[in-house]
Amino acid sequence: MGQEFILFAGTANPALAAAIAAELGIQLGASTVERFPDGELAVRLDEPVRRREVFVVQPTAPPVDDHLFELLTFADACRRSAATRITAVVPYFGYARSDKRHARREPITASLVARLMEAAGVDHVITLDLHAAQIEGFFHIPVDSLTAVPTLCRALRERLPAEVVVVSPDTGRVPMATEYAHRLGTSVVVLHKRRASGTETEVTHVVGEVRDRPCLIIDDMISTGGTIARAVVALLAAGARPEVVIAASHGLFVGGARTKLNHEAIRDVFVTDSVALDDPSWPHLHVVSVAPLIAGAIRRLLGDQSLGDLY
Ligand code: R5P
Repeated sequence: MGQEFILFAGTANPALAAAIAAELGIQLGASTVERFPDGELAVRLDEPVRRREVFVVQPTAPPVDDHLFELLTFADACRRSAATRITAVVPYFGYARSDKRHARREPITASLVARLMEAAGVDHVITLDLHAAQIEGFFHIPVDSLTAVPTLCRALRERLPAEVVVVSPDTGRVPMATEYAHRLGTSVVVLHKRRASGTETEVTHVVGEVRDRPCLIIDDMISTGGTIARAVVALLAAGARPEVVIAASHGLFVGGARTKLNHEAIRDVFVTDSVALDDPSWPHLHVVSVAPLIAGAIRRLLGDQSLGDLY
């Protein structure tokens, strides 16, 4: 593969960007990201991108607005410097949960983010386990939405107790839970989650049989850990064995998540490296890299090939 393309790392997850570059056998592109004394962002590309295919790796993880704006400025710099095609590699897509209006006078921020990326010059997006598949529809440019489920299943297989059932923490995650169950050769249990407020939810029903079974709770993301913590309590109350494994594509771990997940029934927590972790030294935590998956997608895009055989 020649050097007609260049991969830049934003500041959101330089370790993942470096791992993707290593998979592709290239060096990361040189760039500088600084702040002016008043807090304004200064991004500079330190090598030419004219007539080159450019990839910018920047999950829009917390602090979401800072990382999103940095991605937009990278794209603007590439566009003004005559890059051929600008692909935003956004393994975690911030604001994805604002994918519809839950009440009157609310924005659909995921749609706004899509328009901002396009306005900044992004031509193509690679993302991973979008919170809602319809977010692709907010874009008028190609979006390649990858999934970490096969990667996580490979890592999980060795650690799962026999007779495990896959638990979807709400109805929205049933398709993902079904994919896990299919790959792991087991069945799905669904929790009915009721949202009491923007931050408060409760589990009202456990749909399926969990008595004396170990559980694998899956989700697209762990943010504050509240959803998972409430799921664990509901499953134990329904008679599940106190052997619970968690798998989520994106580990944000904000707002005391680790304390909430410090439950004696939780044996292991699996996440990918889509989001940079402040402190990976947590004995239950297993971080599985999606760098080979993303590098595989980039390789196929560069060769104008289908992504159909990625998994
Ligand atoms: C909700 O619909 C999502 O799929 C996650 O379940 C949720 O966002 C996780 O957030 P938290 O960890 O704060 O409960």
